[in-house]
Amino acid sequence: MHLLVLGGTRFVGRAVVDRALALGAEVTLFNRGRTAPGLYPDLETVRGDRTTDLSAVAGRRFDVVVDCAGYDPAVVARSADALRDVVDRYVFVSSASVYADQSVPPVEGAATLDDDSYGGRKASCERVVRDRYGDRCLVARSGLIVGPHDPTERFPYWPRRFRRPGPVLAPGEPTDPMQYIDVRDLAAFLLGDAAGTVNVVGHTLPMADLLAACQAAAGSAHDLVWVPTPDLLAAGLDPWMGVPLWIADPEWRAANLVDGSRARAAGLTTRPVAETAADVLAWDTARGGPADGVEPLSAGDEQRLLARR
Ligand SMILES: NC(=O)c1ccc[n+]([C@@H]2O[C@H](COP(=O)([O-])OP(=O)(O)OC[C@H]3O[C@@H](n4cnc5c(N)ncnc54)[C@H](OP(=O)(O)O)[C@@H]3O)[C@@H](O)[C@H]2O)c1
Repeated sequence: MHLLVLGGTRFVGRAVVDRALALGAEVTLFNRGRTAPGLYPDLETVRGDRTTDLSAVAGRRFDVVVDCAGYDPAVVARSADALRDVVDRYVFVSSASVYADQSVPPVEGAATLDDDSYGGRKASCERVVRDRYGDRCLVARSGLIVGPHDPTERFPYWPRRFRRPGPVLAPGEPTDPMQYIDVRDLAAFLLGDAAGTVNVVGHTLPMADLLAACQAAAGSAHDLVWVPTPDLLAAGLDPWMGVPLWIADPEWRAANLVDGSRARAAGLTTRPVAETAADVLAWDTARGGPADGVEPLSAGDEQRLLARR
């Protein structure tokens, strides 16, 4: 397999490249050379800006292209058009954020957003790819993506938190549903032969199980203090990013209940949460914690809130 990866040097693309190399594929990267230049010195990297000019790869022949980081339909149209006659298969990394109604478990046939939001633009990108490639494309609607090299500070916060002393603030209720996809399982699925539009998510698990896995990875015996959503909101804490992974808005109550049965039938397999938590902690420890040195939920804010209880 000769694979072209649009992007390939940050998170999802990196996992795709690593997986492809493990499968023995030939890999060509197309990017501007700004993000982690030199990461893959032995791979052919074609330099270019996809927003303006893909001519450097348009005349080439590839079996598969994986478009890791397309956010703008006009930009995705440019690559989809340029590669239409030279690739057999176009794989587009989309998002479960395309679904218009996150209060009911999203299934593939449900309505998508049609606005200028992140999810609305991803939905437009999907249409661009489907219109041009038909059954020669895979549109992978990923849930929350986690794993080593995650550029967000959402998941890594949790295993890292258990390495610090003190009782740990746990948001919401222990039974709150949680769902994610390990980036390496996503990459394996993207490089399989599934086609069509597919939700790519892991099994839903209770938040308590996710935190238990993070705690076990860190070898910690801290007490967890569950703080209900109304108390966190009253304290002015921000859902999702301020207290990572905490969902407060009732309109988003089914965001972690995305139906992944179609992907499983098409070959998706997911590793245990214990493995993801341990690997994220190992990576996070090696890099020395958050990239900017700032915790999403500071130790001071956490302890102040817990002291009030
Ligand atoms: N994180 C989540 O929880 C989540 C959930 C659902 C879906 N997603 C989706 O997952 C994907 C994440 O992508 P990623 O950042 O991890 O992909 P990536 O392929 O690992 O990194 C982005 C790549 O794009 C390249 N790039 C950026 N602008 C470019 C341009 N104008 N021309 C050419 N190359 C360009 C960057 O290299 P240079 O800077 O060197 O050009 C880099 O190699 C996105 O599609 C996102 O919507 C994420």
